[in-house]
Amino acid sequence: MALPRKVRIVEVGPRDGLQNEPGELPTRIKLELIERLAEAGLPAVEATAFVSPKWIPQMADHTEVLEGIRRKPGVSYPVLTPNLKGFEAALAAGAAEVAIFGAASEAFSKKNINCTIAESLERFAKVAEAARAAKVRLRGYVSCVVGCPYEGHVAPQSVAQVAKALHEMGCYEVSLGDTIGVGTPQKTQAMIEACAQHVPIAQLAGHYHDTYGQALANIYASLELGMASFDASVAGLGGCPYAAGASGNVATEDVVYLLHGLGIETGIDLDRLAEIGRWICGVLGRESSSKVGRALAAQLEKAKNAA
Ligand code: HMG
Ligand code: MG
Repeated sequence: MALPRKVRIVEVGPRDGLQNEPGELPTRIKLELIERLAEAGLPAVEATAFVSPKWIPQMADHTEVLEGIRRKPGVSYPVLTPNLKGFEAALAAGAAEVAIFGAASEAFSKKNINCTIAESLERFAKVAEAARAAKVRLRGYVSCVVGCPYEGHVAPQSVAQVAKALHEMGCYEVSLGDTIGVGTPQKTQAMIEACAQHVPIAQLAGHYHDTYGQALANIYASLELGMASFDASVAGLGGCPYAAGASGNVATEDVVYLLHGLGIETGIDLDRLAEIGRWICGVLGRESSSKVGRALAAQLEKAKNAA
């Protein structure tokens, strides 16, 4: 199959990245990050999560973040909502798009949202109904689509069943999360093919963490099947410095470089994006996980020294 000509990238750094960074960033820095990403051409910037601050303290300022964004027309700012309580708070703060997030593994569902997969689907159905009534767009996530940190291998059919349920609830897109980055191209394709039996490929997205360095290969394998929507995090934010080998989402800079190299449009300005990556890493006092980000930074340094 020919590769898609255009790809939509959903920037998840302000949510998936920052939820895993140690320490809490001031709200104004989060707002600057979200606004700069939109200015760099990202069509969607996942802004925060309306989850319990006891579970994820990094997202405790969700209301201030969502209310504070100077929104760029045409850009969406989805937020995570695990239940009706989260949905109502998100709606009150002005959400126009929310995401429900389930898992293909029972153990992960329990650890992440404290309920079974079946219970989670009941909760999500209520969120979906409320979202429909409020004309709020709904996106869905499935976690552990290739492997689970507690259960190991996850069967493609288990992923497909949850993806199907989210699709039938009205999610305009279901994002397939390789939460621990264990996928390889063949496994990723087998999983997508199982999901595509129930959900059109145009309504599936890839959300690949880069723990094993396979995310770009998995994106290429997904493009080959016609997938045209991917989640990524500027500078590869995320991961936990206290857990050996843990890593964030694939870096947005690396995905954009790959796609532009393939002649695929994203609408994103790579230089501006890389500058944002350098800035946020400086604020967080961490190294960028983006190879492209680091290469562009080294080039700039060289040019500065030569001048
Ligand atoms: P629970 O403890 O089972 O909830 O948590 P509960 O209904 O029993 O309520 C307990 C307390 O939480 C109550 O407060 C509720 O009001 C409060 P208390 O009376 O004790 O003061 N509560 C809430 N507070 C704020 N916002 C809410 C909310 N709901 C209840 N929405 C819950 C269940 C789902 C809330 C909890 O487990 C939770 O917040 N989990 C979030 C976990 C999370 O955010 N994980 C990271 C995001 S998922 C991810 O990263 C994967 C993804 O990137 C894809 C991939 O990579 O695979 C998307
Ligand atoms: Mg994730």
